Amino acid sequence: MNREFIKVAVPITGEEEAAVVKEVILSGNFVSGKNVVKFEEEFASYIGVNTAAAVNSGTAALHLALALLDIGPGDEVIVPPLTFMSTITAVFHQNAIPVFADIDKDSFCISPEDIRKRITTRTKAIIPVHLYGNSAEMDEIMRIAEECNLYVIEDCAQAHGTEYMGRKVGGIGHIGVFSFFATKHMTTGEGGMITSNNEEWVRKSRIIRNHGLINRDDHECLGYNYRMNEMAAAMGLVQLNKLDYFNEQRIKNSLFLLKELGRKNSKWFRIPELSKDIKHTFFWCPLVVNTENGFSAKDVVEKLKERGVEVRQRYQEPLYKQKVLQELSPYPNGCPFTCQPESNIPDYKSLKLPNVEALAGNIIGLPNHPELNHEDLEYIIEAVLGLY
Ligand SMILES: Cc1ncc(COP(=O)(O)O)c(C=O)c1O
Repeated sequence: MNREFIKVAVPITGEEEAAVVKEVILSGNFVSGKNVVKFEEEFASYIGVNTAAAVNSGTAALHLALALLDIGPGDEVIVPPLTFMSTITAVFHQNAIPVFADIDKDSFCISPEDIRKRITTRTKAIIPVHLYGNSAEMDEIMRIAEECNLYVIEDCAQAHGTEYMGRKVGGIGHIGVFSFFATKHMTTGEGGMITSNNEEWVRKSRIIRNHGLINRDDHECLGYNYRMNEMAAAMGLVQLNKLDYFNEQRIKNSLFLLKELGRKNSKWFRIPELSKDIKHTFFWCPLVVNTENGFSAKDVVEKLKERGVEVRQRYQEPLYKQKVLQELSPYPNGCPFTCQPESNIPDYKSLKLPNVEALAGNIIGLPNHPELNHEDLEYIIEAVLGLY
């Protein structure tokens, strides 16, 4: 059949976003204006928290969260190894140490059981990442945090609108962190947000994001330029209004694909089990390639492309295999590791977390974006089932 190539993602912005951005440009007010304030209020209300602070990327939001909680040199932060690098670069930006815990084989999110094994007297926080639109086991993670007096910073960069036990992620931990990068559920081009019920923390984050300034001249603390601009915020307001519609379509498409694919017992893929406690928003519509049956994810990606279906395939390696971790070299002088007693230096070289090792590079994401029609979905199913 001669048909158009099915892309894994398409632009989700249009005339409405262009109109509000144009309005800001013509106003000449680019910084710290009414759009940022309104976007913060509306986003906080969407997530169900008291307050929020807009910033210029998800990475900035993560870094700010760690900075405002005074997580610093020598502190340990427990993270999953299957995520985007900035979940852990933010830890290094505070000179703190990422400690990796294994993930669940179905949700691909950090395993509470394994978190418990990684806690030491130096642990200060846990960053569960709600990967691919799913949610980590937040009740158990919050229980651990309470027992051990730890902060929980939810990385929701891939989970805008995802719910755990009826509560939106980003409103369950102490702080939630979002990204509005171009490919996310909703976008401001580049952008991020911190959400929390703790108004004092959010007040502090607004100071840190603006050079640590408390008035025109006085810098109360070490700060950064992490401010969101007015054009991004105006765009964010329009996109936030569309978010539920986008999510409904992603969910509908993904559930249809997974249900139809699940009818056949294919040897080359496994469909991860979905939890009934979670409203998954399917940033990815995931399949696990069965490498133990001799199939390779790289081969699958290429073959599907030849058949006109683009798929996602990240993250190829656990983050502890990245150079800066293997060589303990985030900074040229060896910080944060050189300020540790020898016994506290993590041994990333020999670390092997079984579920992460089995899954990294072997999860693919099928196209599930809101613009797909029924014929597209049927074509994807045919291509997937007819592959081997
Ligand atoms: C899980 C995760 N955390 C953090 C980030 C960082 O967000 P940003 O690209 O907006 O800095 C991303 C973005 O790609 C992400 O996927």
